[in-house]
Amino acid sequence: MPESKNTKRYTVTAALIYANGPIHIGHLAGCYIPSDIYVRYLRSIGADVTFVSGTDEHGVPITLRAKKEGLTPQQVVDKYYVQIRDAFEELGISFDVYSRTSRQIHHQTSQEIFSTLYNKGAFEEETTEQYYDEIAGQFLADRYIIGTCPTCNNPGAYGDQCEKCGSTLSPRELGNPKSMLSGAPPVLRETKNWYLPLDKLQPGIERFVNSHPEWKTNVMGQCQSWLKEGLKPRAMTRDLDWGIKVPLPDTEGKVLYVWFEAPIGYISATKDWLIQKNGSDEGWEKWWKDPETRLVHFIGKDNIVFHCIIFPATLMEEGTYILPDNVPANEFMNLEGDKISTSRNWAVWLHEYLRDLPGKQDVLRYVLTANGPETKDSEFTWSDFQTRNNSELVGIYGNFVNRVAVLVQKYFDGKIPQTGPLDDIDREVLAELAAFPGRIAQSIGNYRFREATALIMELARLGNKYLADTQPWHEIKTNPARVETILNIAAQIAGSLAIVSEPVLPFTARKIRTQFSLPDQQWADAGKPDLVPPGTLLTESSLLFEKIEDSVIAAQIEKLHKAREQNMLESKSVQEVKPDIQYDDFAKMDIRIATILEAEAVPKSKKLLKLKVDIGKETRTVLSGISEHFRPEEIVGKKVLYLANLAPRKMMGMESQGMILMAEDRDGSLTFLSPENGTVWNGGVVS
Ligand code: MF3
Ligand code: ZN
Repeated sequence: MPESKNTKRYTVTAALIYANGPIHIGHLAGCYIPSDIYVRYLRSIGADVTFVSGTDEHGVPITLRAKKEGLTPQQVVDKYYVQIRDAFEELGISFDVYSRTSRQIHHQTSQEIFSTLYNKGAFEEETTEQYYDEIAGQFLADRYIIGTCPTCNNPGAYGDQCEKCGSTLSPRELGNPKSMLSGAPPVLRETKNWYLPLDKLQPGIERFVNSHPEWKTNVMGQCQSWLKEGLKPRAMTRDLDWGIKVPLPDTEGKVLYVWFEAPIGYISATKDWLIQKNGSDEGWEKWWKDPETRLVHFIGKDNIVFHCIIFPATLMEEGTYILPDNVPANEFMNLEGDKISTSRNWAVWLHEYLRDLPGKQDVLRYVLTANGPETKDSEFTWSDFQTRNNSELVGIYGNFVNRVAVLVQKYFDGKIPQTGPLDDIDREVLAELAAFPGRIAQSIGNYRFREATALIMELARLGNKYLADTQPWHEIKTNPARVETILNIAAQIAGSLAIVSEPVLPFTARKIRTQFSLPDQQWADAGKPDLVPPGTLLTESSLLFEKIEDSVIAAQIEKLHKAREQNMLESKSVQEVKPDIQYDDFAKMDIRIATILEAEAVPKSKKLLKLKVDIGKETRTVLSGISEHFRPEEIVGKKVLYLANLAPRKMMGMESQGMILMAEDRDGSLTFLSPENGTVWNGGVVS
């Protein structure tokens, strides 16, 4: 284990993901699988550990999702909490508690910490002007405002960022700002908020960060660049109606900043765990206030500043908490040559994987670890997934364990034999075996999970090589006593393999443990020459891994591309609703039902058809840009909606009177609005 403290207690956290969508492989590779491996290892060495996580249920990402899905924020978080929790459980992520920030205990805990800081005078109170939507009656958080980007003139830039040119923005920089809620231009209104003066706290934060030279370089790099920029005061309250109420008088409509309260969710989750287990949170402090406890935060790289700078600043100001010992953040995992993206639907979703490839949890855990984005971005491809399964898990690991079991069945009726006198090759292999648990522990303890999986595979290779070198299938004819020794040693390797690979491959390890009757062994037993005692009866074996066929992989790749195409079609059609109009604006339009009497192409025009329409009292001539969509003969006789009082316009030397109303489909195709009955509708009542 890493040196500094010689503690046996760990509080391990995994990021509280926003409950606004399902989990994908990027989340798993970045945070959840590494943390689970680490914790399973700690439990195996007998450490006192709690592993806490849950969903982050506040903040703008939730309210935006609610708007998009046409649900309330509460409905959104209720839906995704269950889906996320269940998917993690099925993948074998072994949280002690999977809590949520909407729970009472969390509201209470975060309000208490806010109040403590407030009473200590840790906040600076500041009144600023913020955009406000008078129609919706609410202040507009960054994502709720769009306008023109000052850098690239993109008219759809958000209050915090232009997605076209990538500039970071503040709402006041946008040209022509509009509220996403009502479409109205927002007004500036004064509001009071409470700021954590990170600028003044910088020296203390710097001392803390610099006391951890052992942090991963990708993590340290981001910290240093923030510190070099100079920290700025950050508001810890927001004008929003979804979130945790600010525990101060006269703060109606204000909530705690989501990045203030969400990390406190780790503390609340610990209490929640104890409450669920013991009926009370008594004893929670030892996990958060005892300097002998190591606090380790697993996160993805987009969360680094919050866990290394802002949350520690909160805890330091509070004064009675321990600070994170390590924040082993990963980089991102890409997918088939492109960035994973929820909005573009370019992802492998966990709940779909579990459904499409049932029983293959360990394969995903293995592939995402062996190729984890530990020091730089990495990439998942289905073809790599297949290769790692077929040639590593099936071909090396599964093959070894299976051979041992089959040979012991065949030669010794499933009973582990005794060892006789050892040869050099036996002594060598036992010495190598003995060294593996320590080597793998070093890797896991230092957050090098890729290295750990490589070592696990190396141990399986060692087993295969030992069998190939000693050739028990030849030996059995002339020297059966020798085969007893060989298969005893091979069984020790298989048993150890189960223990040391359990953090990465828990489902597989359990199968081997059952097969070799090793239910309670811990890390310290691995590598021993008498792990599986002679006389142990092997139970019925089940296949550990099976080959994945090309067709399965092809289907997954096709599914990925189909989902993206579908998403492109859908997102094309989703246009923002235009700003409100008043009834009087609408009533000005004279909409009627017209019958198309004649239709002909306009010479030299690609788009226009010339139509003669009957509107009851008279006939009109309309030029309509629909010739790429309809042939003249197919529309004659149709009844259509017609805007009769649109001012006449000249086109191609002819006058067009009024306009035919059409609906555009998401693929750009046009449909007439064709009432089957009726002759006149003058824009009044539709019945
Ligand atoms: N909700 C954030 C995200 O999904 C992570 C929050 S981690 C926290 O990116 F626990 F610190 F809140
Ligand atoms: Zn821009």
